[in-house]
Amino acid sequence: MGESKSFFGDPDPIFADKELLRVSHLPEGDRIIGRDDELQSLAKAIKDAQRGGTPNNVLIYGKTGTGKSLCSKYITRDLAEAAAENGVQVGIAYVDCFQESTETQTVRTIAESFNDPDETDITVPHSGVSTSNYYRRLWKILDARLDVGIVILDEIDKLENDNVLMQLSRAAEAGKVNNSTLGIIGISNKIRYKDTLNERVKSSLSERDFVFPPYDASQLQAILRSRADAFREDVLNEDVIPKVAALAAREHGDARKAIDILRYAGEITDEHGDDSVSVDYVDEAHDREEQARLSELISKQPTHSKYLMLALALRMQEAAEDEPTIPSKQIHSAYQIVCEREGAEPLKIRRVRDLLSELAFLSLIEQERKGRGKGKGAHTVNELVDDPEIVVEACRSA
Ligand SMILES: Nc1ncnc2c1ncn2[C@@H]1O[C@H](COP(=O)(O)OP(=O)(O)OP(=O)(O)O)[C@@H](O)[C@H]1O
Ligand SMILES: [Mg+2]
Repeated sequence: MGESKSFFGDPDPIFADKELLRVSHLPEGDRIIGRDDELQSLAKAIKDAQRGGTPNNVLIYGKTGTGKSLCSKYITRDLAEAAAENGVQVGIAYVDCFQESTETQTVRTIAESFNDPDETDITVPHSGVSTSNYYRRLWKILDARLDVGIVILDEIDKLENDNVLMQLSRAAEAGKVNNSTLGIIGISNKIRYKDTLNERVKSSLSERDFVFPPYDASQLQAILRSRADAFREDVLNEDVIPKVAALAAREHGDARKAIDILRYAGEITDEHGDDSVSVDYVDEAHDREEQARLSELISKQPTHSKYLMLALALRMQEAAEDEPTIPSKQIHSAYQIVCEREGAEPLKIRRVRDLLSELAFLSLIEQERKGRGKGKGAHTVNELVDDPEIVVEACRSA
């Protein structure tokens, strides 16, 4: 018998610590680049919690990859540590509202995060408990264990309704908790998110609003450089990071995109059996990142937005080369056919227009107002940002 060979034995020739290039990786404070002002402002907004007071509720807006989730997690962790030194117990609950979008799921996750069953003697069962019962457990846990609970609601616009916001923002005033207090940090990509809230929730939730701006190329370079030790020594050619940063900055200064392209460049190098990451692989890495990002972004959209993306892609494939943009009305017609095929009830044109402008905000499509000629008013034309073929593929796999 020949010698057996392990498929896992060889050390990775490219990466020394690939975790540094994962989105879930939480860098140390000194590795958070270009966000000093934002971190300062956030700290100021929630600082009362450090002495057991009520923090301001905060809403954070900004395009994807601008460090919203990272800074919120970092600053709350820092606050909890500082508070502990004063003998104040601050608990942090992080909720990804895309995953936990119903009221019950959200309350359960918060209660679970704040709880320590050994200390409280309270359990948070995964199922078989009503929503109001989860709330009762949550209030008890807060009073039993914590002085301040801070709830980070990431992608807050994905919540099914405002109930949980109403309950959390009124907990102290309604006497649900007695010797503890609560703060909320809401995070959203949608700058108009606030308009969808009822007045009461709106005023209590957005005591402080912040907008995180995109990164420029030199900030992106610094972000990438601070993670270059993900690679083995001398593997990464000098010109790779500037090129990756320039590519990511050309779109909208998205740090996630920059980090992903760098990781893909390393993976592609490995697939080619090469031992150094060169700029030649960066374009391929960029394509791979676009495909992956698009599939993920489309998969997160509501069903009818997916149908609209597909309808626009199909219309663009048919469109004449010199007239690639598609009026919203034509998308609506193509969309009705898609709905029919999918057995879904199509939405009215007004709602379709809203969804299209949301897709434009997410940079999935581009919109432009065009005049129809003298006295005939204007209409909106639409275009995909990515190739129609890639979009059709992504919609089908989403
Ligand atoms: N200033 C920074 N310094 C170092 N790393 C950063 C910085 N900003 C973002 N990153 C990294 O970039 C990635 C994306 O950041 P983050 O998840 O915070 O973006 P986001 O604004 O929450 O985006 P989204 O709206 O898509 O959720 C993460 O891996 C994060 O660690
Ligand atoms: Mg985020």
